Amino acid sequence: MNSTNPAHPLQVLGISGSLRGDSHNTTALRAVAALADPTVHFTVWNGLADVPPFCEDHESEPAPAVRDLRTAFAEADSLLISTPEYNGSIPGQLKNALDWASRPYGASALSGKPVTIMSASPSAYGAQWAQDDLRKILTTCGAQVTVFSLAISQAHTAFRPDDVPHDPELHESLLTLLHHIRPSTRDTSAARR
Ligand SMILES: Cc1cc2nc3c(=O)[nH]c(=O)nc-3n(C[C@H](O)[C@H](O)[C@H](O)COP(=O)(O)O)c2cc1C
Repeated sequence: MNSTNPAHPLQVLGISGSLRGDSHNTTALRAVAALADPTVHFTVWNGLADVPPFCEDHESEPAPAVRDLRTAFAEADSLLISTPEYNGSIPGQLKNALDWASRPYGASALSGKPVTIMSASPSAYGAQWAQDDLRKILTTCGAQVTVFSLAISQAHTAFRPDDVPHDPELHESLLTLLHHIRPSTRDTSAARR
């Protein structure tokens, strides 16, 4: 689906890699959602905390939270994942969810899925290492990962309480990100399978 028709909006699922109540990554997703025009229906997924640890024994008959995850990912036209950086990589809970979504082999909810990457960190680097790892993981899962990504540095001072960015440049970058979420406007990195 690549609709520019408000009657059939593009279904975009925002996934925050953070479970923290005041998460900068979740704030960034809400900021993107607020900028979406009527041709985009943007939902922020809130199921991450319910996903159990991955176990290959249960990949064909998983817990309800995993079935919900796979359905939400599969029904979305496009995913926007915003990741924190934990010790130089993505948080374990995000990797865990992606592992569940990627299985069973041959029935991955991520295979061929358009995905755009964002990250946010209080550091000067905006969780760039986490982005690099997330790109590698998603490409391994067969997702179509857009070349454009956004790393939000100094994230603790980036947004007002109403989720509006303080900096007009960040506002512009969020609009550019939204543009790249649309499959017809995306350059994608090669999927492995
Ligand atoms: C276990 C842990 C490890 C962290 N490691 C890094 C890191 O490697 N790089 C970094 O920029 N920030 C690191 N941080 C700080 C996070 O960027 C910061 O807590 C951030 O606010 C988390 O994202 P959130 O606001 O979306 O929850 C770490 C935080 C935790 C809890």
